[in-house]
Amino acid sequence: MFARTLLGSLTLVIHANVALGRCRTQPGDPGFPSTADWAALNATIEGRLLTVVPSAEACARLNCTETQWTSSVFRNMIPGQMNSYNWEQDYRAVPPELCLHNGTTCAQGDVPLYAVNATTAEHIQVGVRFAARHNLRVAVKSSGHDLLGRSTAKNSLLMWTHQLQNITFTESFEVGGKSLGGAVTVGSGVSLQTIYPVAERAGKMIIAGTAATVALGGGYIQGAGHSGFSPTYGLAADNALQFDIVLASGELITANAALHSDLFWALRGGGAGSWGVITSVTIQTYPTFNATEYEVTVAIPSTEAITTVMTSHARHVFDWGNIGSFYLLSAAPEGVFLQLGAEFINQSAVDAVAVMAPFWDEVQALGAVVVSNSTTTSVANERVFSADDASGTMGVIGSRLIPMIAYRNSPDVVGQVHRELIEKGYFISGNLIAGGTTLQAFRYSSAITPKWRTAKAHIIIASGWNETSTFEEVEAVREAMTNEAVPLLANATGETDSGSYSNEADVREPDFQTTFFGGNYGRLSQVKAKYDPDDLFIVGAGVGSERWDEYGLCTV
Ligand SMILES: Cc1cc2nc3c(=O)[nH]c(=O)nc-3n(C[C@H](O)[C@H](O)[C@H](O)COP(=O)(O)OP(=O)(O)OC[C@H]3O[C@@H](n4cnc5c(N)ncnc54)[C@H](O)[C@@H]3O)c2cc1C
Ligand SMILES: *[C@@H]1O[C@H](CO)[C@@H](O)[C@H](O)[C@H]1NC(C)=O
Ligand SMILES: *[C@@H]1O[C@H](CO)[C@@H](O)[C@H](O)[C@H]1NC(C)=O
Ligand SMILES: *[C@@H]1O[C@H](CO)[C@@H](O)[C@H](O)[C@H]1NC(C)=O
Ligand SMILES: *[C@@H]1O[C@H](CO)[C@@H](O)[C@H](O)[C@H]1NC(C)=O
Ligand SMILES: *[C@@H]1O[C@H](CO)[C@@H](O)[C@H](O)[C@H]1NC(C)=O
Ligand SMILES: *[C@@H]1O[C@H](CO)[C@@H](O)[C@H](O)[C@H]1NC(C)=O
Ligand SMILES: *[C@@H]1O[C@H](CO)[C@@H](O)[C@H](O)[C@H]1NC(C)=O
Ligand SMILES: *[C@@H]1O[C@H](CO)[C@@H](O)[C@H](O)[C@H]1NC(C)=O
Ligand SMILES: *[C@@H]1O[C@H](CO)[C@@H](O)[C@H](O)[C@H]1NC(C)=O
Ligand SMILES: *[C@@H]1O[C@H](CO)[C@@H](O)[C@H](O)[C@H]1NC(C)=O
Repeated sequence: MFARTLLGSLTLVIHANVALGRCRTQPGDPGFPSTADWAALNATIEGRLLTVVPSAEACARLNCTETQWTSSVFRNMIPGQMNSYNWEQDYRAVPPELCLHNGTTCAQGDVPLYAVNATTAEHIQVGVRFAARHNLRVAVKSSGHDLLGRSTAKNSLLMWTHQLQNITFTESFEVGGKSLGGAVTVGSGVSLQTIYPVAERAGKMIIAGTAATVALGGGYIQGAGHSGFSPTYGLAADNALQFDIVLASGELITANAALHSDLFWALRGGGAGSWGVITSVTIQTYPTFNATEYEVTVAIPSTEAITTVMTSHARHVFDWGNIGSFYLLSAAPEGVFLQLGAEFINQSAVDAVAVMAPFWDEVQALGAVVVSNSTTTSVANERVFSADDASGTMGVIGSRLIPMIAYRNSPDVVGQVHRELIEKGYFISGNLIAGGTTLQAFRYSSAITPKWRTAKAHIIIASGWNETSTFEEVEAVREAMTNEAVPLLANATGETDSGSYSNEADVREPDFQTTFFGGNYGRLSQVKAKYDPDDLFIVGAGVGSERWDEYGLCTV
């Protein structure tokens, strides 16, 4: 408690230049750019200024099909889209400002007004300087994948980095005159589905996520970035060697261990969207390797049996060493299903099945029935490659990093919490992507929250709503997530100061400073004050956001 009070007064002093009760300039305000001002901006960025509309309106104009609406690959062409399109809606406006799929009316909601469709760093520099000069709210987006809604903002000017698609490999990347080995530099628009096959052709593997259009050099790596191969090769941010970034001043700089090393530290784990606009990132490459994925789906006979099945799972996680795995636990009218996929580096299908046999045998003895199982062996790049991500839905998530020690000491509590969450109607996504190499910063110290360094898993819970839901129904779902479900999940950690991965979390985490950043928050606030003294880059539950309202439009 003392530490947090101290932290609060520290950030207040540093940010004395962010005036109290101050607002960003919005349409209708004196000083909001005139049509001529916008035209002048457009002319200086080679006509690349776009007016932005919500995805439902863009889709209607494009006559898009249902398949296109739910495709992240298709949606990626639309500057105003969020994959979870609830973030485009402003439910709290009176009346709500909504633009729903198949709707008959459309309001702008929380969608930016204009976007810079950047193809060069200069376009971003010009856009950022324009926003700063006119005191505009800024949004930054690579893919719109964000599960916290941080890449969209009401009445904002969007810096859209989707077109920054350069990819360059090197066998010897140098920082401060020292070779760091093989690396790849990617523009901040490059999707995972683009980089994995290109890396495979180069005989390389990178540490990145399992998603189609998540951008490697956008929010993913700033948050930490996990992969099924992280227990062997570390978190993505631990593999990051350098960033090129446009600062709030409009200056384009390089941040690495030798240049702006304080910013380099913050960019690796200090949270997405709080530092500037990244134009490219350079990360370590590894010679590619083979991997086997072993996937099993079982039907669990009753909700009561979830406790024993998931307790068994929690007891067995240490049998599997540094194998990354992912599971989904969900209840449907047909029953409760556990679907688990594990990634075995350099191992055959026979080996993979043998390693997991004690667990699957025990689960079947507990009454679970195998519905399907399969193994696939290939170059690792193809095991994590996704052709598309389902999107265009509405919902929120909450999460916790579950410590090693909770699995060791209280697997029964972990099992029990799974059952209670399923009974309350949540969908559970378990990511066993921690442990092994994620337990330390293996090259440079970073802002990754210390909770990652003691974790075994990141568990996410999800719930959603639909086009017919009212503001009150939406709020009820969100309140239950923040105030009931996440605290219940937190019980599985056995900690009073439990942590969570900021990229896969509830944007309403009441003490996000501790939950997402732990003891790093004070230093992150200092880096923020140095590189973004006017808070141009504010996102929900991000560093400095405590000074701003939920819209990031006025200081509080
Ligand atoms: C289907 C799916 C699968 C996922 N899989 C994984 C996974 O395997 N591992 C994992 O760790 N995470 C995963 N995630 C979470 C992912 O890390 C976050 O959604 C992340 O925010 C995506 O970053 P983005 O830049 O692509 O998204 P965006 O929505 O474009 O941006 C996210 C955040 O980053 C900021 N940002 C974007 N671009 C830039 C830029 N150029 N410069 C500065 N800030 C920027 C935005 O302002 C926003 O705050 C997954 C998410 C989804 C929806
Ligand atoms: C910017 O200029 C281009 C080219 O002249 C034009 O097509 C586009 O509509 C302009 N953007 C805006 C927002 O006016
Ligand atoms: C969408 O469909 C309408 C009606 O069929 C048609 O007039 C319009 O040209 C189509 N638009 C696009 C972008 O295909
Ligand atoms: C939107 O309309 C299409 C085509 O009529 C339909 O298939 C789809 O279910 C509708 N979606 C929603 C969310 O209403
Ligand atoms: C953004 O720019 C790219 C590259 O010039 C272009 O292909 C694309 O159509 C533009 N996007 C939009 C939505 O105008
Ligand atoms: C992409 O690479 C090309 C060719 O090397 C270069 O001219 C261009 O400036 C690069 N673009 C960005 C945004 O870095
Ligand atoms: C991957 O497996 C293929 C097919 O068995 C084999 O030819 C190749 O040498 C393996 N690659 C590595 C890096 O082990
Ligand atoms: C997997 O095999 C490759 C190729 O032989 C090797 O370079 C790599 O170190 C191995 N990785 C692990 C984790 O065993
Ligand atoms: C998987 O499938 C094989 C062959 O169908 C079967 O022998 C085995 O018992 C199954 N179970 C598990 C848990 O893999
Ligand atoms: C939509 O959500 C509401 C609650 O918000 C629920 O009552 C309704 O059944 C849902 N409709 C569909 C089609 O899922
Ligand atoms: C957490 O566990 C404690 C002790 O077992 C219990 O009293 C409390 O109700 C639990 N909290 C939630 C939200 O379930």
